[in-house]
Order: sequence, then structure tokens, then C-alpha cells
Amino acid sequence: MKMEELIKKAAKDLVHTKNAVALTGAGISVESGIPPFRGKGGMWEKIDPMKYAHIDAFLKDPAKVWNVLVKDMKEIVEQADPNDGHNGLAKLEELGILKTIITQNIDGLHQAAGNTDVIEFHGTFAWQKCMDCGNRCETSKVDISRIPPLCDCGGIYRPECIFFGEAIPVDHLIRSQDIASKCDIMLVIGTSAVVQPASSMPMITKQAGKKVIEINPERTPLTDSVSDYLIMGKAGHVMNRIIEEIEGLLVL
Ligand code: OAD
Repeated sequence: MKMEELIKKAAKDLVHTKNAVALTGAGISVESGIPPFRGKGGMWEKIDPMKYAHIDAFLKDPAKVWNVLVKDMKEIVEQADPNDGHNGLAKLEELGILKTIITQNIDGLHQAAGNTDVIEFHGTFAWQKCMDCGNRCETSKVDISRIPPLCDCGGIYRPECIFFGEAIPVDHLIRSQDIASKCDIMLVIGTSAVVQPASSMPMITKQAGKKVIEINPERTPLTDSVSDYLIMGKAGHVMNRIIEEIEGLLVL
């Protein structure tokens, strides 16, 4: 089916539910100027995640990880605003169709767009936590004139997102699994679906007999085995068109 037909199909599927959920990944923030991790122009093309994004690397040399990864990320995230993809999901919530977003992103852009129930599966970059005393400081306020930045107690600040080698916060995992098993439709937007356990959420929805709709310019491991259909396009354009179609259906 052509993209336009699939967009109309998705709008028809969504307009009938009050219990849709979205699983999002880095791709939804690409149009906000935040690079993805994998593929062309991806962050892991430039730096080796095992050397700079693994908890062991951070513990061994926090200054190195702050200098190569965290400082740049702070600058990029602080400059980013929600795009049409995020705004489309906020509109779906406003229309009473979308309940929850499970996001692998740490950029806070879903909340900035207006979604009120966002599970930050990999934690958040909005806050830093002192590794000694646990004091929290907003990332935008942390003093980076010294790297790594230090808490008043002398401890090192780390972002409140998880590094490779760290566990998913257990309450996030349990709630996401529960939501994935109970929703009517899961929208899977802008994720390569290769990082577990996030990528198993659509499988839970599928196993419960419910619908999985992917939005991505590329195919993923879910496309043939799990997704009901893939709308092959960028999140911003596809979400704009889905919202237009839904609004059209609602006035009929
Ligand atoms: P990836 O970088 O692995 O994948 C990004 C996906 O977005 C790809 O499938 C692209 O095809 C797609 N994409 C690119 N531009 C897009 C656009 N404009 N609209 C829609 N889709 C687009 O990102 P994630 O799947 O989020 O974990 O990666 C998962 C995890 O791996 C991240 O949370 C991070 C990373 O290592 C940790 O840091 C723990």
C-alpha cells in the first residue's frame, strides 16, 4: 500500500480507540536537530558507545565521558524544541486517543510538546545526580566550568539517564509491560528496535492480539514479524497527515 493509503488506514484505526500508546525512539527527535544513535550521521558512528556510554567507562574516567559525550548532549538537548512528530502525539492525547508514551529518549521533548503521561524508559537528561550524596541539580543549571561538574559535597554529577550496563528503572519496566499488554494500538515511532527490553514492548502488544503501527523511514526487525503495517516516512510529516485525517473523520 502507498504511504497516503496507510496514513488514512492509521487514522481510521486510531479514531476508534481511547487507549493508544506510543513507543518512541531517537528518530522522532531527529527533526528537532538531535542526531540518532545508529545509521548515517548517528552518534555511534562517531564514538564507540562501549568506550563512552557504558557505566564502566563513566566510572573509570568521568571527565572523558563528560567531555566527549555529556557536554555535547547538554548543548544539543538545550537547543531543541518539539517538532511536528512530538506535537502530533500531544494532539492525539488532547483528542482522547493516546494515553501514554513510552520513550527511550531522554530529551524531554514529549513533555515540552504537552503529553502528560510519559514513561522515560531510559531515564532523563533533564537532571544530574551527585554520585556521592544523591543531591539533584537541573542539567541546565549545572556548572560546567569544571569537568566533571561537582556537587557542593565534592561528588561528581552524572545524568539521570541510564548508561549501557545499567538496569532499566524497575517501576518503568513493569508499568510499560502492563500498558503494552492492555492498549488497543501501539504506535512505534522512530526506533531501530534493536535495544532490549524497550523493543520487546510491541511484541507484548502483538501477543495480546492488538495492533502495532510503525512510523519510520526505514524497515526495522519489527516490520515483518510484529508490525501490522509500516508507514515509511518521517515522523513529522506522517503525524501531521494522520492528525489531519483524524480531524476530518471527527467532523463527519
Ligand atoms: P536509533 O538511533 O537506534 O534508531 C533511530 C531510528 O529512527 C531508525 O530506525 C531511523 O530509521 C529512524 N528515523 C530517523 N529519522 C527519522 C524521522 N525523521 N522520523 C522517524 N524515524 C526516523 O535510536 P533508538 O531506537 O531510540 O540507549 O535507540 C535505542 C537506544 O539505543 C537509545 O535509547 C540509546 C541507544 O543506545 C541508551 O543510551 C541506553
